[in-house]
Amino acid sequence: MTFYELAKSRYSCRSYTDRPVEREKLISCAETAINGPSACNSQPWSFLIVDDRETALALSETMRDGAIRMNAFTRDCPAFMVIVEEGANLSAKLGGKYKDQEYAQIDIGIAAQSICLNATDLGLGTCIIGWFNEKNAAGLLGIPSGKRIRLIIAIGYTETAAPSSKNRKPFEQKVRFNKWK
Ligand SMILES: Cc1cc2nc3c(=O)[nH]c(=O)nc-3n(C[C@H](O)[C@H](O)[C@H](O)COP(=O)(O)O)c2cc1C
Repeated sequence: MTFYELAKSRYSCRSYTDRPVEREKLISCAETAINGPSACNSQPWSFLIVDDRETALALSETMRDGAIRMNAFTRDCPAFMVIVEEGANLSAKLGGKYKDQEYAQIDIGIAAQSICLNATDLGLGTCIIGWFNEKNAAGLLGIPSGKRIRLIIAIGYTETAAPSSKNRKPFEQKVRFNKWK
C-alpha cells in the first residue's frame, strides 16, 4: 500500500472485536508518534497505553459520560492510547505566546494522526476520542494533577468493514493555489 492509499483507507472505526491488540503493535504506534515533529522539538506529550481489559472498560466509561451517551462503542474496544500534554520547552512556549499559536496542541494532533496511520498499516482500526470526562479519566489512570489529557485513541481489530466512501467537502472548496481569491 502506498502512503496515499494508507491515508485514504484510515477511518474512524466504531465497532471492535474483543481480540486483544498485540503489545508490540501498540508500542510501534507510540514510537511513530514520538518520532513525529513538534514545535522547537518540544515533544510536549506522553503516551499512556491502556490494554488491560478492566482498565480499558473503566476508561470507556469516561468516554460514555454525559446525558447524550456518546461513544457507546468504546465499551468493546480492547486498547486505548491516552495522549497527555506535557509542559513545552521554553522556546516553544515563548514562540507560541509571541505568535499566538497553541503549538503543543498542534503537536499532539500530529502525534494522534501518526498513531492512527501506523495502526491502520498494522491492520487495526482507530477512533480519536475528544469527548471524555477528563477528571474521571485522569483519576482512574493516576495522571498527576495539572497534566491535561488532550485525546484518547481507541485501537482495536475492526468488527465491520470500512465504509465504502468518505464524507468530505469538495476538494476545490478546501484546497487553493497561490492566492485565497
Ligand atoms: C479532535 C477529534 C475528536 C474526536 N472525537 C470523537 C469522539 O469523541 N467520538 C467519535 O466517535 N469520534 C470522534 N472523532 C472522530 C471524527 O468524528 C472523525 O474523524 C470525522 O467524522 C471524520 O471521519 P473519519 O475519521 O472516519 O474520516 C474525533 C476526531 C478528532 C480529530
